[in-house]
Amino acid sequence: MTEDRFALVTGATGFTGGHLARRLRAYGYRVRAMVRDPGAAAALALAADGIEIVKGDAADGQAIENAVQGTSHVFHIAAVYRSANHPDSHYFAVNRDSVGHLLAAAQKHGVRRIVHCSTCGVHGDVAEIPANEETAFNPGDVYQRSKLAGEMLAREGIAAGAPVSIVRPTGIYGPGDTRFLKLFKTIENRSFRMFGSGDIAYHMSYIDDLVQGFVLCGEHPRAIGETFLIGSDSYTTLNGLVQEIAQVLDVPPPRLHIPVAPLMAAATLCEYVCKPLGIDPPLHRRRVSFFLKARAFSVEKARQLIGFEPSVDLRQGLERTAEWYREMGYLRSYARKAAA
Ligand SMILES: NC(=O)c1ccc[n+]([C@@H]2O[C@H](COP(=O)([O-])OP(=O)(O)OC[C@H]3O[C@@H](n4cnc5c(N)ncnc54)[C@H](OP(=O)(O)O)[C@@H]3O)[C@@H](O)[C@H]2O)c1
Repeated sequence: MTEDRFALVTGATGFTGGHLARRLRAYGYRVRAMVRDPGAAAALALAADGIEIVKGDAADGQAIENAVQGTSHVFHIAAVYRSANHPDSHYFAVNRDSVGHLLAAAQKHGVRRIVHCSTCGVHGDVAEIPANEETAFNPGDVYQRSKLAGEMLAREGIAAGAPVSIVRPTGIYGPGDTRFLKLFKTIENRSFRMFGSGDIAYHMSYIDDLVQGFVLCGEHPRAIGETFLIGSDSYTTLNGLVQEIAQVLDVPPPRLHIPVAPLMAAATLCEYVCKPLGIDPPLHRRRVSFFLKARAFSVEKARQLIGFEPSVDLRQGLERTAEWYREMGYLRSYARKAAA
């Protein structure tokens, strides 16, 4: 069924793109990964898994065209996301302009399907929950604004007849991710402090479920021209998330709450000092906004239209994530187990 399917995956050295590239391979797709650093791809053994590697930067139109050539499907996952030591122009060059380059190359080379990865963050701090695909845009920082700008280009492509689907993932987690590691670590070593009330809604997306959503968007005829919020079946609160993690790690739930304003001030100062020096600030406002922005969404549209069915609940997902952290030696419980 899939032998004529040749997928380009951007961002395959990252958490989501790496999982997606391997899943597509497992489904019988021929897969090409466009990466900035072939050394990083080698370290991740992408080629060993049968994934073709091409070097290229997402902001470089010619590199994108070279990577797109010959493919039938494009999954655009690359983004500037985790680091914060960039000028605003860099976010737009990668998160917006790459979409224009991809659409032009895809049209020129007759790509059959394009799946563009946006973010639920285009909705920003959601006033009424659960939000859905029609909820107003409200990006709250440069990353979210640049992702929205990229999504707008993808929507222009749709309006012009391009076979594009847009995915807005909620907070992605699972084995291979390190964004939530600090949360796990500080809960385990009991140094975690909740900034603010912790009553704010939070919506996770387990990596395998999200990858299922991407694949459906690349294959299902009804996905063309549509935008989907993709995430777990249900959302929780930050307090709920922290309590679940504490149970998974078998430690008492953290109880201490601290006002968020001083943390935000420290983050602003950190960015002010670090950014001009090109240093990734250890604390920045986007990180602090984790404690402030309500994120809770309905995934009903994806369920109804393309048969998306998240299958990993929060507890299972957190257990699998903790297990991977232990295997990697990231959590103390690994050290205790190993010493026992
Ligand atoms: N993580 C979340 O909770 C979340 C939530 C909603 C949406 N998203 C979106 O989901 C996607 C994947 O997120 P993730 O967490 O898996 O990200 P990630 O692990 O940080 O991976 C990002 C990938 O993008 C690549 N990249 C960055 N700048 C690039 C450039 N100029 N040219 C080519 N590649 C570049 C990185 O390559 P290098 O290895 O070379 O750095 C890496 O492979 C992104 O589009 C993000 O906006 C993420």
